[in-house]
Amino acid sequence: MEKIQDLILAQMEEAFSACGYEKRFAKVVLSNRPDLCEYQCNGAMAAAKLYKKKPIDIAGEVTAFLSKESEERDSFVFSEINAVMPGFINIRLDGRFLADYLDGMAKEEKLGVEEPGHGETVIVDYGGANVAKPLHVGHLRSAVIGECIRRMGNFLGYHMIGDVHLGDWGLQMGLIIEELRDRQPELIYFDESFQGEYPKEPPFTISELEDIYPSASAKSKTDDSFRERAQTATFKLQNGYAPYAAIWKHIMAVSLADLKKNYGNLDVHFDLWKGESDAEPYIPWLIKDLQDKGLARESQGALVVDIAQETDSKELPPCIVRKSDGAALYATSDLGTILEREKLYQPAKYIYITDKRQELHFIQVFRVAKKAGYVKTDTPMIHIGFGTMNGRDGKPFKTRDGGVMRLEQLIGDIEEAVYQRILENRDVLEEDDTDLEKSGAAMSEKEARATARLVGLAALKYGDLSNQAAKDYVFDLDRFSSFTGNTGPYILYTIVRIKSILNNYEQANTEKVKSRILPPVTDTEKELMLELTRYNEVMENAFAEAAPHKLCQYIYELANAFNGFYRDNKILAQEDKARQAGWIQLITLTRDVLSTCIHVLGFDAPDRM
Ligand code: ARG
Repeated sequence: MEKIQDLILAQMEEAFSACGYEKRFAKVVLSNRPDLCEYQCNGAMAAAKLYKKKPIDIAGEVTAFLSKESEERDSFVFSEINAVMPGFINIRLDGRFLADYLDGMAKEEKLGVEEPGHGETVIVDYGGANVAKPLHVGHLRSAVIGECIRRMGNFLGYHMIGDVHLGDWGLQMGLIIEELRDRQPELIYFDESFQGEYPKEPPFTISELEDIYPSASAKSKTDDSFRERAQTATFKLQNGYAPYAAIWKHIMAVSLADLKKNYGNLDVHFDLWKGESDAEPYIPWLIKDLQDKGLARESQGALVVDIAQETDSKELPPCIVRKSDGAALYATSDLGTILEREKLYQPAKYIYITDKRQELHFIQVFRVAKKAGYVKTDTPMIHIGFGTMNGRDGKPFKTRDGGVMRLEQLIGDIEEAVYQRILENRDVLEEDDTDLEKSGAAMSEKEARATARLVGLAALKYGDLSNQAAKDYVFDLDRFSSFTGNTGPYILYTIVRIKSILNNYEQANTEKVKSRILPPVTDTEKELMLELTRYNEVMENAFAEAAPHKLCQYIYELANAFNGFYRDNKILAQEDKARQAGWIQLITLTRDVLSTCIHVLGFDAPDRM
């Protein structure tokens, strides 16, 4: 559907042209003074300079034209259009126009959102967990933001390919192998004379693995010989040494099962479960190609590619693609991955989501990829660098005893906090009591727990996504789980409230009253309608700018508008049945827009809470 702002713009452009002014002055924006008007056009001020006239005169001519036109054509876009000093054009929309627009939205499957993606392939690289290390809160933001970007893109008709891009090929593998050797030297993998097949059963469980890595990592910091052993093991693994390849497979299998479970709990999904190791086959060719093209040069034994450009405001160091000991690096594997992605998917766009401290890394990788011609110069490669999730003390979020908080634990904590809020609101029954449950006064323990899960996820994700990604934010359990204020639970609460009104309406009115959305009669009703009309524009912008927080901001305003309407208009007690049925259509649309938005953000609403 055409965006409401564009429909208004078309009218304004016609008026500017008809009055002899260039169309480009007809720009229309949402009003920043809702007390005075709903939309405004400030173009008369700019036009005044070119045409050497007073802005107010230009604004006056334009508004006079529009008033006359709408009378003659009996069209009803504007209910009020005024020229005010020094030359603003203030606009209020006609209720009939709004009602028609919303009715059109309600009829469409995507409620007026178009599909500008046209099936274009976009790679979204997010998650980025490191195999064998437990998922911790540092990976949370990438997963949550990436999942939202992927869902938004798909909704807008792009072919989004989400890739978790696991860290599965680095030194951590050598560390695990050597720690395993120290713990269980008798394992067959360490018997160099062994020729047979390696066991199918892994030599460790996930909890053992999670213990192995941190001890190995700690040991490597104090024990140089251990560290050297780990480096050698990594090198051997990367060169195909069979016993270590067998251990690696076990590490992957055990860790992947756990990661899939954890991401699943977050309702985060990937199309591809690839990792750095998948880039390995491309690396020899990559290095040779960079050398053949004369892009790579030796520097202190390492191989580097210069990426600095004259227009850079600060000096950027070259990208190291091979260390002096011959080892590949993070950048090398990212370039190898790009080669594979080009070969398999030819993406029209790349989006990477990591901590913003990786900014330089991605500038380097993107520039090398374009310089070498692996990616077309006009293919957008975007790095969304996010800030840190801090604790209430303003420092990076930690457990109470200062350790790294595991994601599982974090989710558990937030669920518990929400569960407590549910308890405050209603009774939770230990034993099933269907009558009490049906009356809505109580919930079964099972339902309360399931609800806490949904609401907890909303609290967590909305708490993250509602902040501009690049900014640090404070993870505040109490605030995030609150049912009021700018929070996920508040949005869910609003949806649940609408669902309950719709239920009650249906029960009281078995006969269907046919209706459409009607022009508003009250202010709060009009405010709700105005918010709803912005939906398609907000959704498109939020994706184009890779800015989930804009979608959050929108649903917060929409939820507020609904709650204002609900407070002022007694929907279920309304005696004019046609009006009531119109309201039912209006709040059904509100529910659908809110539900779609939260689903795109990455969470869903329960039936009650
Ligand atoms: N594993 C990396 C980390 O934990 C993140 C990977 C991000 N994606 C990429 N293509 N480099 O920092």
